[in-house]
This record gives sequence, structure tokens and C-alpha cells, in this order.
Amino acid sequence: MQSIALRLRRSGKSIGLVPTMGALHSGHLSLVGRARRGNDIVVVSVFVNPAQFGPEEDYLRYPRPFARDAKACRDAGVDYLFVPDAAAMYPDGYLTYVSVEKMSERLCGAFRPGHFRGVATVVARLFAIAQPSRAYFGRKDYQQLKIIQRMTKDLNLPVKIVSCPVVREPSGLALSSRNRYLSLPERERSAALFRALQQAREMIEYRHITDSGCVAAAVSALVKKIPDAKIEYISVFDAETLVPLAKIAPPAVIALAVRIGTTRLIDNILVRKI
Ligand code: PAJ
Repeated sequence: MQSIALRLRRSGKSIGLVPTMGALHSGHLSLVGRARRGNDIVVVSVFVNPAQFGPEEDYLRYPRPFARDAKACRDAGVDYLFVPDAAAMYPDGYLTYVSVEKMSERLCGAFRPGHFRGVATVVARLFAIAQPSRAYFGRKDYQQLKIIQRMTKDLNLPVKIVSCPVVREPSGLALSSRNRYLSLPERERSAALFRALQQAREMIEYRHITDSGCVAAAVSALVKKIPDAKIEYISVFDAETLVPLAKIAPPAVIALAVRIGTTRLIDNILVRKI
């Protein structure tokens, strides 16, 4: 992949990279569409990255519908599908990790120690391998996006990070490869997460409530009505630094991580100045 990419870049072609863990859905394909429109060549990587899963997490049961993913990529006009295996990405003797401090320890990082170190490491490697001019990330994983932007800036990586909107089901539930773990009733109930976030945004944008404790409590009250929901965090933080805000000053993000039964879901909403 690297020698193909280097040759393409030397011949003046731009490359758009969409890093994924596969089990592709319309959220992933919206990133592919953006990459297709903005670059000569589109590379999609599919790699279920062991370094970003905790020992008790779903690495082994993470869905790997490879033939379906390959067809979706072909239909979307992807030029190269890069599918390394774990032994190729982490051969014996592999020792180098990238860690974006502070930002990686908050929010999801507090519940998934080492997760963002695994993400930053694999994304830095994918950048070195696929030589992208631009790389596409969804705001669904808001903390991940901000960590990748920080890493790219701090390490002077010559890649433009393109941030893409969250794609949702008609119910409002954010698309995720993990949604397939939900039973039908759980899936229906999960739509309440986005409704709670929308209500919180209205509190801030239209009722000008600035006390983040008050906003988080309102979201929490709505989430607690979902049967079998277990809140990991509900947080209001600065959209750039991810630092929690006591007094909300937009642009801010309200984000949550909630377990519905055994499935961990994350979502967030941006609050702008109006
Ligand atoms: P994965 O969860 O497969 O997501 C790949 C990309 O798709 C990420 O940038 C994610 O934000 C985006 N995405 C997922 N669901 C989305 C939705 N509903 N709307 C818009 N974009 C969505 O995130 C990862 O993989 C990995 O951590 C990775 C970056 C590939 C590193 O291993």
C-alpha cells in the first residue's frame, strides 16, 4: 500500500483516506462520498485495531463482514481497500506508540484506558502507509476527531483532517457498527439519547441556560427513563480543548456514553453561538 501511495503522490495525484474498522454503514459511506468528491484517489482502510480495545472489550466479537464491505466500497467508487491483518500492523518487536496527552484521558478515555493511544498510533501508521492528502473522520466520535487533529498539528503531519457530520437513523439514533448488538426494543429505546441531547441544546441555545450541571442533570433525567440504561458520562465541554465547562460558553459540545443493556453507545451534539 505504501509503495502504491508514494507512486501516486509522486505522479501528482491527491489521495483521500477513510480509516475504518469495517462493518460499513451509511455513516462510513458519507465519509467515502466526501473523499470521492475531493480527491483523485480514495483509499479506505478496514482494520479492527487490537491496540484500541481493552481486555474486557469486544475485539473478538467485533463484526467483520468483509465481502459486504468490499462490495460497498466498490459501489462507492473506492480505488483501494487496505485490509492489513494484526500481524502486519503489529509485527513481533513492534514498540512505538503515539499518545496525545490530557485530551486522551478525559471522557471516553477515562472509561477506556489506552483506547486513544491505540487510535492515535494506528492512525499515524495509516497516514504513513497511505500517504493521504486528506483524511476523513466523523464527528460521531468527537473526542477521537479532536485528538487526531491535535496529533496531526503537533507532529506536523502533512494531512488535512476533514471533519464530517454525524449520520443518523430517522429515529435520531447515530449509526454505529455496534448498533447491531442492540435488540429491536433496545434499538428503539436508544433513540431517546439523541432526543435528550437535542433538549439540552435547546436549553442552552434558546433558554440561555449556562450552568452545565443543570443541563447535564436534565439529560441524565431523560436517559434514566430508558430501561436498562447505565450512564458512563454526560459532559459539557469546550469544543476545541475538550475541557469541561462549569459555565457553558459556545462553541461547546454535550456528549454522553451510555450502556443500553451490554452495548456501549456514544453520541454528542454541538452547541453554537446564536
Ligand atoms: P469506525 O468506528 O469504523 O469509524 C470510522 C469512521 O467513521 C470514524 O471517523 C467515525 O467517526 C466515522 N463514523 C462512524 N459512525 C458515523 C456516523 N454515524 N456518522 C458519521 N461518521 C461516522 O473510528 C474508528 O473506526 C477507529 O477508531 C479508527 C479511526 C478507524 C482507528 O482504528
